[in-house]
Amino acid sequence: MRTFVLAALLMFPLRVDAQLRVASPDRRNVVVVGTREGTLYYAVQRDGRSLLTPSRLGFQFRGQPPLRDSLGIVDSSRSTFDETWTQPWGEVRRVRNHYNELKVSVQENNGPKRQFTLAVRAFNDGVAFRYEFPAQPSLGEFEIMDELTEFAMADNSRAWSIPSNRPRLDRSEQLYSSQPVSTLDSVQTPITMETLDGKTFIVLHEANLVNYARMNIRGPRMESRTLRVDLAPHADGVKVRGTTPFVTPWRTIQVADRVTDLSPSVLGLNLNPPSVIAETDWIKPMKYVGIWWGMHIGTMTWSSGAKHGATTETTKHYIDFAAKNGFGGVLVEGWNIGWDGDWIQNRNAFSFTQAYPDYDIVELARYAKSKRVHLIVHNETSGGIQNYERQIDSAFSMYEHLGLDAIKSGYVTDMTSEGHSHWSQFMVNHYRHVIEKAAQHHIMLDVHEPIHDTGERRTYPNMMSREGARGQEYNAWSGEGGNPPEHETILFFTRLLAGPMDFTPGIFDILRTKTGPARTNEESRVRTTLAKQLALYVVIYSPLQMAADLPENYEGQPAFQFIKDVAVDWDTSRVIDGKIGDYVIVARRQKNSPQWFLGAITDEQARTFNVPLTFLERGRSYTAEIYADGPGANWLTNPTPVAISRRTVTRNSSLRINLARGGGQAIRIRPASGAPAAPPPVPATRNP
Ligand code: NOJ
Ligand code: CA
Repeated sequence: MRTFVLAALLMFPLRVDAQLRVASPDRRNVVVVGTREGTLYYAVQRDGRSLLTPSRLGFQFRGQPPLRDSLGIVDSSRSTFDETWTQPWGEVRRVRNHYNELKVSVQENNGPKRQFTLAVRAFNDGVAFRYEFPAQPSLGEFEIMDELTEFAMADNSRAWSIPSNRPRLDRSEQLYSSQPVSTLDSVQTPITMETLDGKTFIVLHEANLVNYARMNIRGPRMESRTLRVDLAPHADGVKVRGTTPFVTPWRTIQVADRVTDLSPSVLGLNLNPPSVIAETDWIKPMKYVGIWWGMHIGTMTWSSGAKHGATTETTKHYIDFAAKNGFGGVLVEGWNIGWDGDWIQNRNAFSFTQAYPDYDIVELARYAKSKRVHLIVHNETSGGIQNYERQIDSAFSMYEHLGLDAIKSGYVTDMTSEGHSHWSQFMVNHYRHVIEKAAQHHIMLDVHEPIHDTGERRTYPNMMSREGARGQEYNAWSGEGGNPPEHETILFFTRLLAGPMDFTPGIFDILRTKTGPARTNEESRVRTTLAKQLALYVVIYSPLQMAADLPENYEGQPAFQFIKDVAVDWDTSRVIDGKIGDYVIVARRQKNSPQWFLGAITDEQARTFNVPLTFLERGRSYTAEIYADGPGANWLTNPTPVAISRRTVTRNSSLRINLARGGGQAIRIRPASGAPAAPPPVPATRNP
């Protein structure tokens, strides 16, 4: 009998099924990699409980057989990594990157004998894997038609996501919904899931997306819970073109016991290479105002004419306003030739160097500098990629020459002029090209209609913020009446796990009575209270944070003080409480400062919380400046009352936080006068 088994093994040595495992440093997360009848799979467990059941891996190519059916494990190696690194700016300053890695070498048992390595990393806050193809005779140049990676969910978890299969403008700008995994169609990542017993939260996303197509997720077919990678295509349907050696982005599976432990998420950052920008002093988080909301509500235009927003005079007025109130930047949209007519159709008509005659960019650059304000240049491309790339050297050189060091870019389009998907490898490469060019010219970036954030900011800290979800602009003009009150409570646990968002909070004229008749609830309008607009500065993290309303709407508003005071760069962040779609309470400590800010927001329900201030330092007394929903406030009929009060607090105090329907609360907690102001030590966050 024995001899027979041995003989069988010798005859079919690579058909033997193998299994390897790697555990996180705390041993709670385990990834199993194995083969079964020639297919390669992985599975994920937490505390011995299955989160993902065996899920297949592989590729479909053009012009060659799929790499899927006759795979064998030929070798493996293991390593451990533990390092704490510092971010130049962020939600947390110190990040621990601690994982165990398993590398599994895989080769086809027959046929062309193509090979790759599956690299798997197990962290305490999740697991990740990617495919690494060495240079090899039977796989040189290739065209991937499909990545066959599966995520077979063990449980019919509830999943929060936005769809990926509705071709229309700005496709990440949609409302979130939740449903059981088994009923998902095609969705975008990050997708956040809660197991049915409420004991585990799982987030699928990707990290270090470079020279590859963006990943979406295709829903299960036929009563299953198996999700599949769905790559965005080039115009000809090919997903990825490459030549070995080649690595794919990481597929990430973040896990947490409590939803509040998901944020701040650093898994993706840890899977990106360290910064390639040696000197980062010029990269500075800031708050900004801009010639922007006026266009969205129709009191100004991007195009030339009587209502043209971007005039020299108006811009000077905004620069003065920024300087007076301590804002770092002024964004000006509609300054450059190309906005007249249908600017989406005429995308190739945009000039990125030539200003309209009523906008003196040289004088404004000088004026802004004299007031120590950054003039933020706007580059809307409408997806005219070649038009933009053709001008990028001359434009960025000109901006650098004028001392202009920040750009907000835009890609209002569904497809490029060439017919590539907005999320294709072509576009991934374009966005990366712009980041690199901007870095060369010392330019910070805020990208609208971007590809989702996969942690680029670690390698290129000049890639600061991006949109990539429904922001405030939808409250100006969206057909469906604006973002519902629950919107930001979902964004926090989904989109924001990928990275910062330029949501553009701070609308004070909620019903727009200052510029016309009060908005009815049937029309587009802001669906929050004013206090909630303040709380969003703490809840929605962005190193470039806008005060989005018209400057005149802040005049005579005591609540404006909070926007002036709130920080944009943090030593540490704590999610105190939260429930997806219901409410969030976040506290963050300003970078290099003992000062904390707290933001609490709710959906359409009023809620009350008792928040112990145990995060404050022992033995120190603080003043809490509280901006709460005022008497009778609610988002629907009475959004503007704000009650401002002060209290002395210590770490033994608790604050009773009352949130109105659609409301919020914003609190600044600063050391009481006389207290020593030295910043306390910075804890390393995550992955302990
Ligand atoms: C959409 C962006 O999100 C918005 O901020 C910008 O004003 C318009 N595009 C015009 O570029
Ligand atoms: Ca947008």
